[in-house]
This record gives sequence, structure tokens and C-alpha cells, in this order.
Amino acid sequence: MAGPGAPPILADAAAALRIAHGPVSASAVTRLTVTDFRCYARLRLEVAPASVVLTGPNGAGKTNVLEALSLLTPGRGLRGARLGEITRHGAVSADGRAGAWAVAATVDGGPGGPITLGSGLEPVGAAGAPERRVTRINGETVRGQAALGAHVNALWLTPAMDGLFRDGASERRRFLDRLVTTLDPDHAGRAAAYAHALRERARLLRDGRGEGRAASWLDALEDTLARHGVAVAAARRDLVARLAAVLAEADGPFPRATVALEGAVEGWLGEMPALAAEDRLRAALAAGRRADGETGGAAVGPHRADLLVCHAGRDLPAALCSTGEQKAVLIALILTQARVATAARGRPPLLLLDEVAAHLDATRRAALAEALAALGAQAWLTGTDAALFSDFEDTAQILRLVGGNLID
Ligand SMILES: Nc1ncnc2c1ncn2[C@@H]1O[C@H](COP(=O)(O)OP(=O)(O)O)[C@@H](O)[C@H]1O
Ligand SMILES: [Mg+2]
Repeated sequence: MAGPGAPPILADAAAALRIAHGPVSASAVTRLTVTDFRCYARLRLEVAPASVVLTGPNGAGKTNVLEALSLLTPGRGLRGARLGEITRHGAVSADGRAGAWAVAATVDGGPGGPITLGSGLEPVGAAGAPERRVTRINGETVRGQAALGAHVNALWLTPAMDGLFRDGASERRRFLDRLVTTLDPDHAGRAAAYAHALRERARLLRDGRGEGRAASWLDALEDTLARHGVAVAAARRDLVARLAAVLAEADGPFPRATVALEGAVEGWLGEMPALAAEDRLRAALAAGRRADGETGGAAVGPHRADLLVCHAGRDLPAALCSTGEQKAVLIALILTQARVATAARGRPPLLLLDEVAAHLDATRRAALAEALAALGAQAWLTGTDAALFSDFEDTAQILRLVGGNLID
């Protein structure tokens, strides 16, 4: 691990490598600096605007680099971590206070030329002060993280997502919402407002406060649920339709997947205008107060939706496929979403693919390298075994990490 006083580690791999630049101007991270981040006191990477492969043994710090990149987008990153847990254990700032993590990056390829983005935890002030995330764009502090979404768009695939098709529907809704958010950064806010109103309504109903002044409060909450709920369902429907259209054209060694959205509100949107669906949801919530008070939930709404994924070639729900097939279906979905996002936003997203190559046979590994090159996206891939990345040698810079240090 690099000590706080150690010189910055510089990996200027670009010159030494044969980098094939795609025709599309992708957002590409060309410099990444992390400070007091997980296992890193400090790490600085300089790379060409092409894909990057990080190899190294378990615990080398590969996933941590991907997590740092994912925190350049709105949200809690690819581990969904609490802000405080990211700070390097035992980190102390120069003036003796508790340390705080920071990530800074230069991103090339955006419409306005290179920009610098920063994200991190505000150094702790008075004892007990709440943890606060700070976001900087070109050195200026901005409110919230949503503005990051205009500059960097990222999709990721991690081993923690391996159970996606077998897990509960809430994991798949979260996955779907992340995909929608890469097209529409405001989606996350609407989904969060919906979830908040749902919890508030459950609390009121649980306390048996459905009458008097609380009743008009319930009306207001259900109005919020109807408006945001239908907007969330409509955005998910739109995304699933776009995915389905691109998946239908797909061929090659990755499995043909089919996607569908299951849910009452989603179904209504196929039969009636959005305003009518809002009225119907508002009425269903009002009629369901007593029953919902007993169950502690809400019987109807987009929080009950599910993303159904099938392996079309085998005509099987993805949950019944082998582990390796499920991984291949997930990769196919992420590549498809990258195509959808490229079409919608005019440039490909950053792709963070953690430990993906090890699950693929040689044909699919070669196909992945080819698909990434065709997309023109900057992908960051990780793996323990450098030998698995021979197909990436012409298009990616291959770096090796050991114990949180970059090895040339
Ligand atoms: N907050 C933290 N402080 C210090 N070390 C951490 C922190 N969080 C995780 N680590 C360590 O970071 C190391 C590298 O993790 P990771 O990037 O997941 O490795 P890998 O190369 O296998 O993907 C692990 O040994 C882990 O214990
Ligand atoms: Mg890892």
C-alpha cells in the first residue's frame, strides 16, 4: 500500500501500447486520483482514452478502482456503500483529523472538451457532524451529485450481481432503475420520491391514522405516489421496449435474451393514457387503505413490478439457466444497454466490468473484446489472470496491481 508520503504512482501506459481508437468520441477517464479510498492512501493512474484491464491477485485493489470510477456518477457507486465505509481504515488527515476519501478524474471526449470531476466525503468538522458528500465539476463545488450524470454515464457488472435472476424482484427493479437513470438522470429522484411517499403512507396507516387531518395527508401522499409511480413505470416500460428492440436484432456468441416488464401499473400503461393510469392508481390506493394498513405495504404500484429475463435460445427463464449462462445473459444485457444508451445520448457510457472474463469461454472472451471495440466505449475490466485478456491486447492498456500498488 502506498504510504501518505509516497510519491504518486504514475502509469503512463499509453505510449507503450498499440491503442486502437474507435470512431465514436466516448467519455473516457484519462486520469484518476484516489486519496484515502479503501486500501489506497493515494493512487494516481494516467491512461489513454481507451479501455483498461486491471490484473492482479485477490485483494490487490482492482474492484476498488472500479468503485472509485463508479462514484464519478450519481449514487452510491457499484458497491452501494455507505459513505463512511469507503474511507481508508485508519486514515488521518494532515492536521490530525479523521481522514476522508476523495476521487478526482479528468474525463475526455465530452461535448465541451476535457473536464475534471471530483467526488468525496467532506472532511469531518465538529464531532457528530453528519457525513456529507462533496461534488466538484471543473473545480467548482456543485450541489448534489445529479450534475455528474451530465458528464459521466457508467454501467457496471460485478460478481455481486451474479444472483440477479434468482434474487428477489427488488434487486431487479434496482438494476432496471439504474439502467433507466443512465438515460434519464432524473429517474432516480422520482423513484426515491415514490419510495419515500410509500414509507410515509405505510407509517400513517400503521398508526391507524386514516381519519381527520391525517386523511388529507394520505390523499396528498397518494397523489404523489400516483404521479411519480406512473412516471417511474412509464420510464421503465420505455427502457424495456428499447432493450427488447435491440435484443431482437442481436446475434453472435452471447445468448439471445428477451426482457419483459411485469406489473399492474405497467400493464395499464399499455391500455390507457398516463393520466388515466394515474387516476386508476390513485383510486386503487385510496380503496386499499384498510388492507394495506394490515399488511404494512401497498398492494398495487410500481414497487411490485418485476423484470422478467429469459434465455431465448433455450426458451428458459434466466433464473433456471446455469451460472455461466446467467453470467452470459447479464453481459448480453449490459452490452445491449450500452448500445441503447449510446443511441440515446450520442456517446457510449463508461463500462466497468469486474471479474467478467473468468466466466467466459474463449469464444465469448474474444466476442466481448470485439463488442467493446465496436461500441467505442472505454471499458475498465478486472481479472486475476492476465492470460485471459490476450484478446484485449490490441485495444486495451493492461495494468497490474499488487497490494494496492501499480506494477510496471
Ligand atoms: N475502508 C477500507 N480501508 C482499508 N482497506 C479496505 C477498505 N475497504 C476495503 N479494503 C481493502 O481493500 C483491499 C482490496 O480490495 P478489492 O479492490 O476488492 O480487491 P480485488 O483486487 O480483489 O478486487 C482488500 O484487501 C480490502 O480489505
Ligand atoms: Mg475484486
